[in-house]
Amino acid sequence: MSQTWWRGTAIYQVYLRSFADGNGDGFGDLAGLRGRLPYLKELGIGAIWLNPWYPSPMADGGYDVADYRDIEPVFGTLAEAEKFIAEAHELDIKVIIDVVPNHSSTESAWFKQALSDRSVRERFWFRDEPNDWKSIFGGSAWTQVADGQWYLHLFAPEQPDFNWENPEVHREFEDVLRFWFDRGVDGFRVDSAALLFKSEDSYEDLDAVHDVYRRWREIADSYGERILIGEVWLPDQERFARYLRPDELHTAFNFDFLSCPWDPAELRRVIDLTLATHTPIGAPPTWVLSNHDVTRPVTRYGRADTTFAHGGALHGTPSDLELGYRRARAAALLAMALPGCVYVYQGEELGLPEVENLPDAVRQDPMYARSGGANPGRDGCRVPLPWSGEEPPFGFGPAMSTATPWLPQPEAWRKLTAEAQAADLGSMLNLYRSALALRRDLLGDGTLTWLPLGGPDVLAFTRESGLTCVVNLGSEPVRLPPGEVLLASGPLEDGSLPPDTAAWLS
Ligand code: NOJ
Repeated sequence: MSQTWWRGTAIYQVYLRSFADGNGDGFGDLAGLRGRLPYLKELGIGAIWLNPWYPSPMADGGYDVADYRDIEPVFGTLAEAEKFIAEAHELDIKVIIDVVPNHSSTESAWFKQALSDRSVRERFWFRDEPNDWKSIFGGSAWTQVADGQWYLHLFAPEQPDFNWENPEVHREFEDVLRFWFDRGVDGFRVDSAALLFKSEDSYEDLDAVHDVYRRWREIADSYGERILIGEVWLPDQERFARYLRPDELHTAFNFDFLSCPWDPAELRRVIDLTLATHTPIGAPPTWVLSNHDVTRPVTRYGRADTTFAHGGALHGTPSDLELGYRRARAAALLAMALPGCVYVYQGEELGLPEVENLPDAVRQDPMYARSGGANPGRDGCRVPLPWSGEEPPFGFGPAMSTATPWLPQPEAWRKLTAEAQAADLGSMLNLYRSALALRRDLLGDGTLTWLPLGGPDVLAFTRESGLTCVVNLGSEPVRLPPGEVLLASGPLEDGSLPPDTAAWLS
């Protein structure tokens, strides 16, 4: 079993705009994040992944990058980013940043140049006639420019797709990787990793993409232990696994697990499938319950249909938040006990629910506008974190700041602030802290052995360290096997594990 950090660590996802506001303008920033590094250290994570921090008009929350070698002024400066990296490293926390190779911003130097100079349009996909492709955010995937040509954008019109047939694009991104590796980042999360190449009839998973990642892997390896994490949404496990061959990306997000309903047979199927996909190629699995694109688990698990559905299909369907909260606690212990890496999306450790009643006027996700309001978009999982105090902005900004956070926080979050939860031993925050601490010594990289225990509604397995995880997804309490209970997601009943509860035993 390899001991390399990236095979088993807990990675905390920071959505910078919504994490902590250091300068009092209502937007999270690097100053806010630096100030909260002790919180993250105490939480017990091993790495931070930041969503794009580059200069951006924010047409898609920063996934419209105007300059890959600088920092968005609302977030701070390049010098501050370097300080942040150094401070995180002092605390033994790795830093992973987002790289967005599929598309750029209409405000990037390259695109502005392409508009005025036809000779450099081959960096993008300009055509005299559009085809019938639809944008993933709704509407056509083509937008016309003043001289009559059209350019391709798989996402918003502000996000023109790069043309990866052009060697200049390869050179550019290889240089961008080096730029940030030279500044100490420990890895990249590769946005839309399967979309780079286009053919006449497809823009997904074309074989040429693998040569790009082989080259990137050489670059990462030349710096020592730096890693590449793929955002690869592919239903076909065999195709998915190709991205994780030993000379390509190190890991990829497990979206099957994230989308899986709260159902014992389905969860077991996904876990087995994940292990069967990863083990033969030696790549560590990852376990993801949420991120900045999906409904928060507390809300999702409280619904009658507990799958994650794209396009906001389940938005606003009734959710029993108490039930969802109980299940989210159990799911956290399950995810953290499984072999491989685990992700924690900011606010997950506070048990925040999805904010489903944002006023339409404040919604910023392009999915909302481009679907004509049919899709509420992803703002509901991006609401600024509640840190302390009794009312909004809940310590999101500096003490005397009167700025309103860029999305409004629900009043009810007074019970969910980090401050309130730190003082409550039974809180979600303290569950995450305890679990992450145990996980560091007893879990992470490796394998599992299923235990035949409690019938089909129970997931039970043991890990190399001897730690046993039992999750009860049925409707009756389950007798626990012998052993000391190290941690449980809820109170036990006479030594039995109640429904929607998980326990770790030694
Ligand atoms: C995936 C990112 O996670 C999402 O937030 C973004 O909108 C798309 N890629 C386009 O970059």
